[in-house]
Amino acid sequence: MTDRIGAAEPVYDRIGRQYSAGRRTDPRWAAAILEQLGPARTVVNVGAGAGSYEPADRRVIAVEPSSVMLGQRPASAAPAVQARAEQLPLGDDTADAALAVLTVHHWTDWRAGIAEMRRVARRRVVLTYDPELHAGFWLVRDYMPSVLDFERRRMPGVDDVATELGASRVVALTVPRDMQDGVLPAFWCRPEAYLDPVVRANNSALAQGDHQAIDEGIRRLAADLESGAWAARHAELDLLDEIDAGFVLVVAGA
Ligand SMILES: C[S@@+](CC[C@H](N)C(=O)[O-])C[C@H]1O[C@@H](n2cnc3c(N)ncnc32)[C@H](O)[C@@H]1O
Repeated sequence: MTDRIGAAEPVYDRIGRQYSAGRRTDPRWAAAILEQLGPARTVVNVGAGAGSYEPADRRVIAVEPSSVMLGQRPASAAPAVQARAEQLPLGDDTADAALAVLTVHHWTDWRAGIAEMRRVARRRVVLTYDPELHAGFWLVRDYMPSVLDFERRRMPGVDDVATELGASRVVALTVPRDMQDGVLPAFWCRPEAYLDPVVRANNSALAQGDHQAIDEGIRRLAADLESGAWAARHAELDLLDEIDAGFVLVVAGA
């Protein structure tokens, strides 16, 4: 199928229907993003989705290809244009900063998208993650290792993103115990959450990965929660306030 911007149907028209039910701004990540946006007054949010992490105190223009995601933007959200990162409908140096949060791995040509971010803004901030560090997280390691293969196939390395972006720094983002945004490792100390189909639907690795292997992993997790085996194996998690699951902010420009 071809959409009105001339490419295949946006994936999030299929997998993003319940996005705003489980994916929302985490205040700690929002504060970290704001810090890296620095003095930028105007921001292009690329792959903006339903509007998470858009700073309320700047002028924002959102760019998003999926009608389903655009339809979940609150009435109060920044104005949005339906387009892809690879072909931003914006002039050179349009904004002070370009922001891309958890979206680069969905782009058909991530290098073209990053080149577009460089063209339209002096400062660039990309929130991405290292798939290998995701693999250290118990859900992937113990219950669904095929998710790592899936992530390796779709996710560019942090170093590659940093090089293409012309980055000056990479800032680690940890996942707190009460993470508000339902990214894959968000529920590292709340394992029952993964039994909820809405939680799984709102994570693209679980929505797009090998369904048979993921369902089998979830069945094993349910059994381990029921028997107490999971709790016995992960008592040390009670002592942690946060984990490092490989999330980073890659930052470039003045
Ligand atoms: C995981 S969501 C993140 C949305 C938002 N940035 C957030 O943090 O909630 C990924 C988003 O990337 C968008 N996307 C997919 N392919 C894209 C492309 N080629 N250019 C721009 N955005 C794209 C999807 O439609 C989806 O809204």
